[in-house]
Amino acid sequence: MQNTHIINHPLIQHKLTIMRDKNTGTKAFRELAQELSQLLGYEAMRGIKTSLIEIETPVAKTQAPVLSGRKLALIPILRAGLAMADAIADFVPNAKIGHIGMYRDPGTHLPVEYYCKLPSDIENRDVFVLDPMLATGGSAVAALDLLKQQGASHIKFVCILAAPEGIAKLHGSHPEVEIYTAAIDEKLNDHNYIVPGLGDAGDRIFGTK
Ligand code: PRP
Ligand code: URA
Repeated sequence: MQNTHIINHPLIQHKLTIMRDKNTGTKAFRELAQELSQLLGYEAMRGIKTSLIEIETPVAKTQAPVLSGRKLALIPILRAGLAMADAIADFVPNAKIGHIGMYRDPGTHLPVEYYCKLPSDIENRDVFVLDPMLATGGSAVAALDLLKQQGASHIKFVCILAAPEGIAKLHGSHPEVEIYTAAIDEKLNDHNYIVPGLGDAGDRIFGTK
């Protein structure tokens, strides 16, 4: 699948299996979501630019790489994406964090936007959109539309789980946006939940059900 990266690493797959288990409680689920987000975010940032600077170690002068490309922006889709942003920000502390509030209407399953606050220079940043679940793709496409309206153009989408339907919808509207995910599941069910999936990510992260 073009522009879709499945990060098939034993540590990631092991942690994902524990997240899928319905007997995993809120604390463990949230911690695993954060750990997986760091591992996925690390892969999604593999392409960011570096350049050499001269430094002096205790032993010798040398040329060594530092980050030198566009600045970064992490954009969690509320609410489940928040846990991902907190975790990834730990290793890129200078990244700006923007928020897009979006929920799926329980009847229509269509995304409803309720909040948007982005870094003012979003057009100059490498943007990482964060949401654990790419199900129908409605929320992702609405978030990407919004980001592009605000001028963002270098965008990657990082999720924990994706459905084939969601990937097709996202790439139908935004084919150049690379997707990073731990797994692509089989399908959506009649309620547009990912099967086998892991249930409602927001409720499991925040303990609201
Ligand atoms: C979940 C999830 C995504 C969306 C994915 O959010 O975190 O944002 O559903 O579904 P889609 O691909 O079909 O749009 P939800 O609407 O449950 O809101 P929450 O994060 O506030 O719980
Ligand atoms: N949102 C979730 O949290 N889980 C799904 O399976 C689908 C959408």
